[in-house]
Amino acid sequence: MRLAHTDQGSGPVVVLLHGFPLSRAMWSEQIKALSGSRRVIAPDLRGHGESPAPDGVYTMESMADDVVELLDGLGINGPVALGGLSMGGYVTLALALKYPDRVRGVMLLDTRSEGDSAEAAEGREKSARAVLEAGHPGSVVEAMVPKLFAEATIKEKPDLVASFRTLMEKTPAQGVAGALRGMAVRPDQTGRLGEIRVPSLVVVGEHDVITPPEGGRRMAEALPAGRFEIIPGAGHLSPCENPEAVNAVILKFLSGLSG
Ligand code: MLT
Repeated sequence: MRLAHTDQGSGPVVVLLHGFPLSRAMWSEQIKALSGSRRVIAPDLRGHGESPAPDGVYTMESMADDVVELLDGLGINGPVALGGLSMGGYVTLALALKYPDRVRGVMLLDTRSEGDSAEAAEGREKSARAVLEAGHPGSVVEAMVPKLFAEATIKEKPDLVASFRTLMEKTPAQGVAGALRGMAVRPDQTGRLGEIRVPSLVVVGEHDVITPPEGGRRMAEALPAGRFEIIPGAGHLSPCENPEAVNAVILKFLSGLSG
């Protein structure tokens, strides 16, 4: 799988994995802020953005394999700083656990280590079917928009919210269904967090209702070298809602990594 990606800047490599059903476009503020001193690689995960959207179930592990294949193709074989938001965080965990030699720092933004409950997995399957039947992701986008942002963002930044709605609507139905089905079968990684020994940063928007701050705090405590940061005034899309604060915590974290 050849992933479309942005490759900007030079220096130590930072890889950023977007959430569902978004694309690398969500990292625009981080790419700007980090690429002055780092090489930032931001792929479109399979089924999203400009990457291919094959049939099937996109397991978090298969998406992690795609990312490693991309890095191999770019000749990046050493360990990188790897970060992901929400679904990108599930993929980050899968990659850090499967390929521990490829990460030297892990950033988990607005995400969780637990798998889906049976009820949540059932809901995902229903949504996947509805999207495939309709041929577009409209129903999933409508359900997600109100939950993605803090109330203040919805009121004060309507253009930002509208631009994310448009971004999500562009995700092909096949890609949305593949990712929903992959998230539904992802394993609970909570018991394995202790295996991630590299420095780890957990970031959560203060008003995130999809992956609330308490869960992020627990994850940071379970990570052997975990640090926890709450982003004021932000919901689930903290890097987009409050990029200044997120960029500051990321830069501080990266400056503490060797290399
Ligand atoms: C995301 O933002 O990637 C999704 O909310 C993740 C999920 O549905 O579990």
